[in-house]
Amino acid sequence: MSANATRIRELISAERLQARLTELAAEIESDYRGGDPPLCIGVLKGSVFFLVDLLKRIDIPLHVDFLQTSSYGSGTEPGEVRILKDVDLPLRGRHVLLLEDIVDTGYTLNTVLALFRFRGASSVKLCALLDKRGARQVEVPIDYCGFEVENVFVLGYGLDVDERYRNLPYIGVLEGATDE
Ligand code: IMP
Repeated sequence: MSANATRIRELISAERLQARLTELAAEIESDYRGGDPPLCIGVLKGSVFFLVDLLKRIDIPLHVDFLQTSSYGSGTEPGEVRILKDVDLPLRGRHVLLLEDIVDTGYTLNTVLALFRFRGASSVKLCALLDKRGARQVEVPIDYCGFEVENVFVLGYGLDVDERYRNLPYIGVLEGATDE
C-alpha cells in the first residue's frame, strides 16, 4: 500500500480565515479602545498563527504573552489540565484577552479562565478562532468567535495532528487512511 493515502479536505479557506480576522480585529479594537492596553495571551502552540494575523490588524496599544497547557496525548484524563508554561507577566488589574485556536470539550479554557480570574485580572475575555460546540462538556463563554465547526478533528492554521499540518494556511480535515 502507498505510504500515504490521506487527503485533506478544506473546511475553511485561507481567504475566509483572513476576512473573518479583519472583522474580529475591528470588534476587539473598538471594544478596548480608550482603556488600559489589553494583555493578549495566546495558548501555545495552536494559537500562534491566528494570534499573529489577528493582532497585526489591531491598531491600539496592547501587550502579548503566552501560556502552554497540556493537550491531547498527554496521558491525563480529559478534565485534568496542566500548565506546561505559565505567563511571564503579572495579571493583577489587567484586562486579559485570551486567544485560543479551538474550544473543544472546554476543559482547557474553563481551567485557564478560572486561574486568570483567581490571579486578579480586572477582566478576562476569550477569543477563539474555532468553536466545536458539539464536543462541549463544560460551558465556556466565547466573547469573540471566528467560526463554528462540526465535531470532527480539524487541522491547519496552527492546529496539528501529531505536530504536523500547523503551517497550512487553511483549516482542513483528514480524509482516508495512512500507513505511514
Ligand atoms: P479542550 O480542552 O477539549 O477544549 O481542547 C483544547 C485543545 O485541544 C485545543 O487547544 C487544541 O490544542 C486541542 N484540540 C481540540 N480539538 C482539536 C482538533 O480538532 N484539532 C486539533 N487540535 C484540537
